[in-house]
Amino acid sequence: MITVTINGNAVTAETTDSILKAAERADIYIPTLCYHPDLPPRKGGMPVHVVYQGGIRFENDPSKTPQTGLESGCGLCVVEMADSGELEPACGTLVAEGMSILTESDKVKARQREKLKEILADHPHACLTCAQQEGCPRTQCSSNVPEKERCCPQLGNCQLQKVADYIGMDPATPKWMPTDLPVIKDDPLFDRDYNLCIGCTRCVRACRDLRGIEAIGFVVDSGGKIRVGSVAPTLRESACKFCTACVEVCQTGAILDKGLKNKREDLLPCVAACPAGINIPWYLRFVAQRKMDEALWVIRQGVPLPGILGRVCTRPCEETCRRRDVNEPISICALKRFAADNGSEGWKAASLKATDSGRKVAVVGAGPAGLTAAFYLRKLGHSVTVFDSNEKPGGMMRYGIPDTAFPETCWTRKSARSSHWVLTLCRPPQSAMNCP
Ligand code: FES
Repeated sequence: MITVTINGNAVTAETTDSILKAAERADIYIPTLCYHPDLPPRKGGMPVHVVYQGGIRFENDPSKTPQTGLESGCGLCVVEMADSGELEPACGTLVAEGMSILTESDKVKARQREKLKEILADHPHACLTCAQQEGCPRTQCSSNVPEKERCCPQLGNCQLQKVADYIGMDPATPKWMPTDLPVIKDDPLFDRDYNLCIGCTRCVRACRDLRGIEAIGFVVDSGGKIRVGSVAPTLRESACKFCTACVEVCQTGAILDKGLKNKREDLLPCVAACPAGINIPWYLRFVAQRKMDEALWVIRQGVPLPGILGRVCTRPCEETCRRRDVNEPISICALKRFAADNGSEGWKAASLKATDSGRKVAVVGAGPAGLTAAFYLRKLGHSVTVFDSNEKPGGMMRYGIPDTAFPETCWTRKSARSSHWVLTLCRPPQSAMNCP
């Protein structure tokens, strides 16, 4: 760890931290636009030969980009080195022992305002300085701003707006002139409005570097302007997987989720439809990474019997899966079963149990409800005893569901006083040999 000074305050940072990261540690805000913690920097990004914005084709002009790629980022994150007076990008400069950094000096503010002016010249911004922007329906305008020049539906929720509020807009910022670029609404899951693109290339980096797809790219046109678009005339022809990584990183409304109403059920309909509220995207991501124990840990936060549920669930989550709009729903239920069948006991490490509460609970009935109640009570630290008239636990799962629904099963009954109450589905041949 080293110590640097930011705005006169001593801040402890790691030697591998950027100035931006060190400032974040100290809760000091530095505006950013092109930076994203999961993406490589915009600086150095390589253009492709041609991109399409709907019916418009843009070719790269090699004379406008050096062979090493883009020469700079958005430049909004500049900070001043107190000793030399130099301005450096906070997102791409590493801290050094004894460094003294200013994030709000006049020089920094002037540069940020200049950069913001350049960016806003290419983006509708009439509403950003409107005194009545809060609660504005955007359908009528008391200042008579033409509809085309008003801000997008992201107003109030927009990173560019946040940055503009912090830096303050230069009164000399030129009026945005409508560009009449395509607005494409016939793709599944998200819409694209190229009039709102500021060329930060976060979507390109998410598609290329995060997902390895390269369905979108950017060129630098003969006027030196960055043009982002699909690498073929349509996204489908560009082999887009509609993974929506580009939507997640777009901060200006240029790529907008069709379901965006800022409601959780719009964005995560599978979670909203799951009666247990399991965080489905989270565990699917772990399954995709072959991290079955982590996936089981996520699933077990909602249901303690994933192996069985992965076989008998009626799958309401799949009914609402947004991938239906692209091709077919994700096989959420089968993937839960896959995690249960291929995971180990490793999930227990992350499944915390509260310290013993000293309380005892008797649960009558060792069916799914009783076992689930016992599981969560035990996690809360209570001592649990489960009673059942049948010899073995499971209730309707054991006695009501035909054996054919399961592989050869073995029920392991653990002490209700142990730290976890678990039913295990053993796989043959082990089950026949070792069933207690
Ligand atoms: S955020 Fe650092 S250069 Fe854009």
